[in-house]
Order: sequence, then C-alpha cells, then structure tokens
Amino acid sequence: MARSALLNVMVDAVRKAARSLTRDFGEVENLQVSHKGPADFVSAADRKAEAILREELARVRPGYGFLLEESGVIEGTDPVHTWIVDPLDGTTNFLHGIPQFAISVALQKNDQIVAGVVYNPIMDELYVAERGAGAFVNDRRLRVATRRDLPECVIGTGIPFLGHGDHARFAGEMQTVMREVAGIRRFGSASLDLAWVASGRLDGFWERDLKPWDMAAGLLLVREAGGFVTDMLGRDRMLETGSVLCGNENVHKRLSKLLLG
Ligand code: IPD
Ligand code: CA
Ligand code: CA
Repeated sequence: MARSALLNVMVDAVRKAARSLTRDFGEVENLQVSHKGPADFVSAADRKAEAILREELARVRPGYGFLLEESGVIEGTDPVHTWIVDPLDGTTNFLHGIPQFAISVALQKNDQIVAGVVYNPIMDELYVAERGAGAFVNDRRLRVATRRDLPECVIGTGIPFLGHGDHARFAGEMQTVMREVAGIRRFGSASLDLAWVASGRLDGFWERDLKPWDMAAGLLLVREAGGFVTDMLGRDRMLETGSVLCGNENVHKRLSKLLLG
C-alpha cells in the first residue's frame, strides 16, 4: 500500500515518539520495586512522548493547531487543521507493565477527522486510516468482523474507575450486555479498542466519558473499516459527548437496542 504524504508524516512522528515510550516501558518493571514507585516516571514518559509528537508534527505542518492531552489547546495560524494527540493511551496498563497501550494521533479538518494513526509499539501494530481511503494495519486492509448475532460476539468496553464516570449506570449496562454476548473485554486503551473493532478482533465496543484524544483516530479506523459508529444516543456526536458505540451494522443495531434507552 502506497501511503499518502500526510500519513507518512504522521507515522514518522508516531514512530519517533514510540521509540522513547518503548525505552521507558522497559524501565517500568525495574521501578515497580523502588520506593517512590513508577507514577512520576510514567507521567514524565508521557510528557516526553507528547513533546516529540508536537515538535515533529509542527515541523512538517507548521501552522496547524493542536489538542494535546497533556498540554491542552495550542492555536495554530491555520484555522482549519488541528492535530488531536494522545501520547500514551493506556497509562494505567503502562504503569503496571501491561503491554497494551498506544500512541494516537488524528488530524481534524474543520469538524471532520480526515486521518488517524494508532500505534501499539509493543506488538508493533500500526493502524492507519485516511478518510475515504480505507483503514490498514501494517499495510493490510482492515474490515470489521462479520458476525451478526450477539451470542457469537466479543464486545469491548471501558469500565469507570475511581473518581471517574457513573459506576451504577455502567453496572446496569454491563448486566444488560453480558446476558446476550459470548464475552465482554476491558483492555484499557480506548484507541486500541477501536482499532480492534476495525480489525475484527472485537465485534463491538461501547464506552462513555472519553476525551477526543482517546477516540478521534480510532473512530476513523472503525468507519474506514466499514463499521458503524454513534454516540450513546445514536447520534454522530462522539467527540462532543465523549460516548461511543460501534460494530458492524448488525452488531451496532443490536447493541443500540440494548443500551440506547
Ligand atoms: C484512558 C484509556 C482507557 C479509558 C479511559 C481513558 P489514558 O486513557 O483510553 O481505556 O477507559 O477513560 O482515560 O488516561 O490512559 O490516556
Ligand atoms: Ca487516553
Ligand atoms: Ca493519555
């Protein structure tokens, strides 16, 4: 697959930041036993990766704005283009030495996501998509799974945690979905969860209370792999509401019936 110039610059920046993140991940296990613990170290690793992404993307596309998880909004001179960046999606996993985390970078043009890259450096799985041009993992074309019936489906989700989200509502949703499906999984990196729906590993996914940087690139991956994506009210307003529900057309319809009021 010949990658566009845009995807090439995104991939180069992501791979550079990933080298730094991977080096630091190798250190985390040693730090587990230290007194101070690895939390400060991990937030430094996170900020370092973000600084690399910011520097690389600004160098190749001067003027584009940024929405960065750690540094917030940085206005560009170009009013149309914004990079949406999560330098480390799956921080809790990273901190615990669990190799399920990713760098997620999306490009928003006006109010549309036009390109997305999600990279898991430990599995060396590079997911890319460009609007209208399909989604790929390591140059292989992605298609969402074709399973139609929920009893055959493995569904991903995000579980609210300490001080975050509506725990009672989630418990109800979980109970509703677990009665109908082959299994529910919580992997802890929303960008990869969406990439896994795009690749067909997961048949569907739902989560609330996400931020734009958790999902911007992943939403495009799912759509470009032929999936259906809405927020938890069935609308195309995922970035504003922070909620997402997706799968192939049938799975999306069946999950919507269970979860959308
Ligand atoms: C988190 C992950 C996780 C999701 C959380 C996010 P972070 O991002 O995507 O899967 O459930 O809501 O905050 O904090 O690791 O970048
Ligand atoms: Ca995140
Ligand atoms: Ca993060």
